Amino acid sequence: IRIYIPGDSTALALGADDVAAAVTAEAARRGVDVDIVRNGTRGLLWLEPLVEVATAEGRIGFGPVDAADVGALFEAGFHLGESKHALALGLVEQIPYLARQSRLTFSRAGVTDPLSLADYEAHDGYKGLRNALAMEPAAIVAAVTASGLRGRGGAAFPTGIKWNTVLKAAGPQKYIVCNADEGDSGTFADRIVMEGDPFMLIEGMTIAGLAVGANKGYIYVRSEYPHAIANLNHAIATAVQAGFLGQDIMGSGRAFDLEVRKGAGAYICGEETALLESIEGKRGVVRAKPPLPALAGLFGLPTVINNVLSLAAVPLILDKGAAYYQNYGMGRSRGTLPVQLAGNIKHGGLIELAFGVTLRDILFEYGGGSASGRQIKAVQVGGPLGAYLPESQWDTPLDYEAFASLWAVLGHGGIVVHDDSADMAKLARYAMEFCAVESCGKCTPCRIGSTRGVEVIDKIREGSERPKQVILLRELCDTMLHGSLCAMGGMTPYPVLSALNHFPQDFGQVSEDQR
Ligand code: NAI
Ligand code: SF4
Repeated sequence: IRIYIPGDSTALALGADDVAAAVTAEAARRGVDVDIVRNGTRGLLWLEPLVEVATAEGRIGFGPVDAADVGALFEAGFHLGESKHALALGLVEQIPYLARQSRLTFSRAGVTDPLSLADYEAHDGYKGLRNALAMEPAAIVAAVTASGLRGRGGAAFPTGIKWNTVLKAAGPQKYIVCNADEGDSGTFADRIVMEGDPFMLIEGMTIAGLAVGANKGYIYVRSEYPHAIANLNHAIATAVQAGFLGQDIMGSGRAFDLEVRKGAGAYICGEETALLESIEGKRGVVRAKPPLPALAGLFGLPTVINNVLSLAAVPLILDKGAAYYQNYGMGRSRGTLPVQLAGNIKHGGLIELAFGVTLRDILFEYGGGSASGRQIKAVQVGGPLGAYLPESQWDTPLDYEAFASLWAVLGHGGIVVHDDSADMAKLARYAMEFCAVESCGKCTPCRIGSTRGVEVIDKIREGSERPKQVILLRELCDTMLHGSLCAMGGMTPYPVLSALNHFPQDFGQVSEDQR
């Protein structure tokens, strides 16, 4: 019998290796022949380690499984696909959290063996690349443009337009760089792709190379993701061996080489120009734009730099067609957004949904409310530089423009939940402190402003000269917003001002006229 035990870092952190060892030992003791597959996670993180048993009807889930449960699970016949044990969850694909998603990018996550090229190909892998190899570069770019895909790293710039700039740029050499420095709080979608479906990212980057005329790619992964780095390196070697990467892709005479580069723990290296500096071996300091990386990027040459999720969406678009992807979503937000639900929430995990769903649905229909059982007070969407949204804004659909109209961002799709015990002034202070710690130091509003911001919020919290300090804080935020060179200093006012505007009581009853 085949048993799936996730090998991704969430499951590992929760004891999946011990579970696998216990299953092997118990099966040997009972003389049961088991074939253990270490899959990735499906993203139902509160159920990890989620063990699945293959049956004729589909895969039956059990979770969260502890090594100590394994004896009793066998006793209850789990290896026969029987659902008598209390941890039995029925058919995994029918668990509402999963069944109600639109899994496009994450269709294979948790399903396949991440390191098996055969498994990848058996689940639609490399179909997109095969199609792309038969197309002119401009036609590939046109398909990506028509799909409506926008940068999933957070800035939502149309991917096809970015690729077109690089396609048209002249240069002796062009590069594809994948930004896998996933640094936002509460985000893990990039990691799930790299650990659970690395060939998809490799295929997406290869297609990008064909589209713009680049024959070299780098994946810049944060050092905190050792399992992702290992899986990517393993998958790259396998793809080279099978002829999907290298000097002659599938006998086409086209070339694309790929390399993984490890970051060294600075949040700012997720900013695209600091990331390029870092790959070049320099300190991660932000470059002024223009010139855009599309025209003068890595080593000064035309470079496509995209987030993991943007590149990972590409194989499906080239396989099923631009219209297929474009049919999901609303307004100018097309396709799906992999939402990552974290913080004080009962059912944290990855939820891939077409744009248009509301935050309230995500928090309650999927998330099941707060983990503490208390009332949810605020949700921060879009990482540490994203705004805090109060309940009055939870009916807003997930859509880039709808969020922008609230002076909020969707960012990389991370949602961090806080219950009514949260002190929003303390969280605003944290945003300034985070900026002070992570600032690259190149421009004054961010480098100095963030430190002054911490001091001003401290004074407000202490109650000294409160009205005056609140005005000062607003002026400081205005300077950071308009005077910073990059999003680090430029977006820190989002969490600060949204906390101040929506939760004035946490700042000592700041009234409307003090705004
Ligand atoms: P941006 O708006 O300056 O640029 C977006 C992208 O479009 C860049 O790659 C830029 O080079 C490119 N671009 C702009 N005009 C172009 C043109 N005409 N042709 C070709 N390419 C063009 O935004 P930025 O500063 O790159 O990113 C800020 C965003 O990053 C924020 O909105 C935030 O949500 C997100 N972010 C994501 C994090 C993560 O962990 N994923 C962490 C921190 C911030
Ligand atoms: Fe560096 Fe901050 Fe200026 Fe960005 S805003 S360039 S991180 S100092």
